[in-house]
Amino acid sequence: MSTQTFSVAAALAKRVTTQTLLEMRVEGVPIAMLTAYDYTSARILDEAGIDVLLVGDSASNVMAGHETTLPVTLDQMIYHAQCVVRGVKRSLVVVDLPFGSFQGSSREALRSSIRVMKETGAHAVKLEGGSVTLESARRIIDAGIPVMGHLGLTPQSIYKFGTYKVRAREEQEADDLRRDIRELEESGCFAVVLEKIPSALATEVTESVSIPTIGIGAGTGCSGQVLVTHDLLGLTKDFNPRFVRRYADLAETITQAVQGYIEDVRVRDFPNDEESY
Ligand code: KIV
Repeated sequence: MSTQTFSVAAALAKRVTTQTLLEMRVEGVPIAMLTAYDYTSARILDEAGIDVLLVGDSASNVMAGHETTLPVTLDQMIYHAQCVVRGVKRSLVVVDLPFGSFQGSSREALRSSIRVMKETGAHAVKLEGGSVTLESARRIIDAGIPVMGHLGLTPQSIYKFGTYKVRAREEQEADDLRRDIRELEESGCFAVVLEKIPSALATEVTESVSIPTIGIGAGTGCSGQVLVTHDLLGLTKDFNPRFVRRYADLAETITQAVQGYIEDVRVRDFPNDEESY
């Protein structure tokens, strides 16, 4: 084992920082990121060894049942982040700035980021968008707050795109993305999420920058991967894009457990003598 590889192993035994992610990128160690929205799950994911926990604005979909990520508010994101942070000892916790909390001005973006950092104890914020978010990203980073970018399919712009299909297949949009990732790197972002873009483009732009890229539906050429935890665990049965790999069928497990409970209650088998006082 080389000294450098050893340094990453040592860093991973400790709390994950933005610096750890940069070291992992340099060493070619893929970064594993998942979403979290509550204390109990965050604690399990953290203890399982996940590197980064994203308090994603996908909370709007999987926690609140909205069709898009647009309705979730900054106050709600702060509540979810507070719950997650209480469950975490090792992972880096990144919080999405939700729609409407940063697009108005870089001042608004900074104010929202400061609220997230002060009120939750999280370690970084994530902002969707390319060139339009640059001024905000710089201002937030200048204030000492680490920023993760997010390019490609940015769900907060779903009504502009009109579809959740793969982005940047056209040369013009691919060029814009090539420019955006370089500018985000120059502005000081510590990492960038690449969502639903062609694998070849994701690999190319990953190689064009020195910061880590975290892919979702962007192939294996990224420096790491992210999934929505509810998708990975098989809790979101009616959402089946090809980039999701299901590692469990918790919807089925929960259904069976609940049906077993209902049956036991109906026949007065629960509680039994050992479960009673
Ligand atoms: O909100 C979210 O869950 C995300 C990931 C899909 C990257 O932004």
